[in-house]
Order: sequence, then C-alpha cells, then structure tokens
Amino acid sequence: MLRETYPYYLANEAVYANTDLQVTDKYSGEVATRVAMADTAVIDEAIDWAVKAEKPLAKMPPYERQAVLNHCVKRFEERFEELAEALCIEAGKPIKDSRGEVSRLIDTFRVAAEEAVRIDGEVLNLEISARARGYRGFVKRVPVGACSFISPFNFPLNLAAHKVAPAIAAGCPFVLKPASRTPIGALIIAEVLAETDLPKGAFSVLPCHREGADLFTVDDRFKLLSFTGSPAVGWDLKARAGRKKVVLELGGNAACVVDEDADLDDAVERLIFGAFYQSGQSCIGVQRIYGHTKIYNELKRRLVERTEQLQKGDPSDESTFIGPMISEGEARRLHGWINDAVEQGAALLCGGERNGAMLDPTLLENVPKGCAVIEEEAFGPVAVLESFDDFEAVLVEVNDSAFGLQAGVFTRDLYRAQQAWDELHVGGVIVGDVPSWRVDNMPYGGVKDSGLGREGVRWAIADMTEERLMVIRTPRA
Ligand code: SIN
Repeated sequence: MLRETYPYYLANEAVYANTDLQVTDKYSGEVATRVAMADTAVIDEAIDWAVKAEKPLAKMPPYERQAVLNHCVKRFEERFEELAEALCIEAGKPIKDSRGEVSRLIDTFRVAAEEAVRIDGEVLNLEISARARGYRGFVKRVPVGACSFISPFNFPLNLAAHKVAPAIAAGCPFVLKPASRTPIGALIIAEVLAETDLPKGAFSVLPCHREGADLFTVDDRFKLLSFTGSPAVGWDLKARAGRKKVVLELGGNAACVVDEDADLDDAVERLIFGAFYQSGQSCIGVQRIYGHTKIYNELKRRLVERTEQLQKGDPSDESTFIGPMISEGEARRLHGWINDAVEQGAALLCGGERNGAMLDPTLLENVPKGCAVIEEEAFGPVAVLESFDDFEAVLVEVNDSAFGLQAGVFTRDLYRAQQAWDELHVGGVIVGDVPSWRVDNMPYGGVKDSGLGREGVRWAIADMTEERLMVIRTPRA
C-alpha cells in the first residue's frame, strides 16, 4: 500500500509542499497517492545546494561512500516487498516483474558499492624523448561535479538507480527528476539516502512537470546530464544542454534472429518473455523477430500458441503476466499502429484487442515497410515476425533501422555469432538469448537514434569522473 502523501527531497531533506501531483494506480485508474511537486525556484535551490556539496562529497573517502551504498542495499532488502508493491501500483507492473526489478535495484547498488573503492588511476612513463627526461605522470579520476538526472516510467527504481548509485560511488551530487507518472520508487530511494550522512546538498529528488523542468537541461551549473527516455525528447535535450556532458539512453525496435539450428523450445520461451514482459515497455523489448525459413512455420505456431496462453489482468495477481500499459493513451497509440499495419496488408496472428490501458499481446506478420509498428519504437506488447533464409542478409535487415540498442541471435554456430557481433550496429549483441537481456554490471546503451554513451555502473562512473593529470619533474634525473 502506498502512503497518503509523499514529500520531495530538497538537499537531503523531505519537504511536504504542494502535494498536488496525483499518482494513479495504473490498473484501476484511481488516485493512489499524492506527491509534493517542485517548481522552478525549488529546482534552482537544489542546484545551488548540489554545487555546494561538490567539495565535501569529493573529499568523502571511498570507503564512506561505499558505506552509504551498502546501507541502501540493506534497507532495500528490508523493504523489498514494500518496494515491489509500490512499483506494481504506480507502474502497473506485474508483481513478479516488480520483484525482479527490486532485485536488480539491489544488484545495482551492490555493484556500485564494490566499484566505489576501485576508482583508480595510472602512472605514466613520460620519457618518450630526451626533452621529457626526468618527467613522470600520474592520472587520477575526479568527480565531474553536480549532475542532472532524468529517469523514465518503465523501471522507476532501477533506471533511477543506474544514475544515483554510480553518482554516489563517484562522489557527484545530483538532482533527479523522476517520471511524474511513477515518482514513488525514486522517492523511496531518496528516503533511504536521507538516513545516511551524505553532505547536505548531495542529493535532491524532485518530481515536477516537464514545463517547469528546463533547468535540468539548460543550467550550466550542472556538469553532466543523464537522460533515459524517448528518442525525440532525448535528442532535443542534447541540443539544448550547452557545455555539459550528455548521456542518453533512448529507445529501440530491437530485433531477434532465430537461426535454423536454434533450440526452439528455449527460443520460444525467451521470445515470449522478451516481447511481452511488463507489457513490452522496455527499450530492449523484442519488436522484430526473424526466423529462418526452415523453422519459421513451427516457430510461428508455437509463438502464437504461447502468446494466447498468457494471463492478462490485475498486476497484483501472482499469476498475471500482462498488466496494463502505463496509460490508456499509450495503449490507444499502439493499438492504432497495429490497426494501421493490418490495413496496409499485415497479417494479425493473434491479439490486437484493447480495453482501456490493457492491450492484448499481439503478433503480426508480413508488415509492409514504412509501418510505424516496425519503423518506430512500439514500447508495448507487440512483435512482428518475418522469415529469412540468408544469415548475412538478415543482419542487413536487422541493421535497417534508425535504432541500435541491443540485438539477440539464437544460433549455435560460433562463426555466425561472431559475424553478428562484428556486423550489427548496436550497443550489444546477445547470443543465445533475446535482446531484452540485461544484467546491471554490463555496459548498456545504444548507437544511432538509440542514444549516446553507456550506462552500467562502471561505465556510468567513468562518465561521472574525469581524468586529472599530475606531472612531476625530477631535476638531474
Ligand atoms: C530500458 O528500458 O532501457 C532498460 C531495460 C533494462 O534495464 O532491462
């Protein structure tokens, strides 16, 4: 159960002001809680505090930053079920997936705690010619300073954690804007951080309307902006971000290739998970499935059979696999794309019905090029099937997309696996599984319209720190 109201966090402290952001239960549509809303003046104050915290946080020894992260791990473990229930309500995420996300939140903080004491430097031998005789270089990594974070609705806990935990490990103060439809996860993270003795200003978590939130993008006191969300918004933010570093984790229309030698039982189970878990609302949800002609009909038959068996309904029910999409508007948008594809000649293999925010898991075949359902990011429970008979050609087909986040390849052929790794224009190739697979210590991010830079704790820490060189000259060396 959610509390009646939640505060925002300004410079490490809870503030119950303007609790007029209504957060709905995404299944019932009823108001579940009310959350404090920050306005531009509050965001401005939070940035000031973050700048003030830069020095004390940078001076905080790594073992103390590690202790903060370990405290979070402990508290998240203690509050596991409460966190899962909050996700289930605010995001409409089936309770099993919600628990999965809480486990990942814990992983992300645990990995960050380990990395906090491993931010090392390098000794350089600078004596490359006679003029450099007696010189030696030392490089260490220092925090970049105050960071601006904007996190999305689909993983309210773990995608906030992928910014917050590395920032603490690196020693960067931050101001976070969680998605206004799902702010509770990030606010519980803030509540736990408020139990620690991070220097004042080290963190602020401020739900706010997008219109009042320009400072997150344009304010030059921030040294880094890390955004996870839609491509259109992300690239627009980058264009307005000024001199700060920008990391963008954006969308995709992930493809999965099922080769002739794949274990079909296994591939079908993984494809059903990859396409439909949390109603397909993942940037790496399977959207395009390419099956080899030798196994295509059987693959299609089994996928349709399994899709039709998926249990839909109340996300708090332990047996539910398909809950609501984040809003009726989003479900209506995707339903429109499906109908449009069918009008243009695609075959509807199963699904295609909508009731409010509930959209049935849907499989389509023979979707003509140009249809939104293959060209754009669907971000919902729909996948499109197509056959292929030439491995090289299907890799070209996978690359024929504006996006490039991750791709999956079911093959047992080592050479084909490497060929896919060499030729696919994506941030990651997952062999023997769907593109939707992610563990929280791996580099994660995309190319083309899918983004810029990598998350994954170690890579985020690299972005949140910069190299500082010291040169020492030894006279008469
Ligand atoms: C995303 O939707 O970008 C994140 C996927 C994940 O963390 O599993």
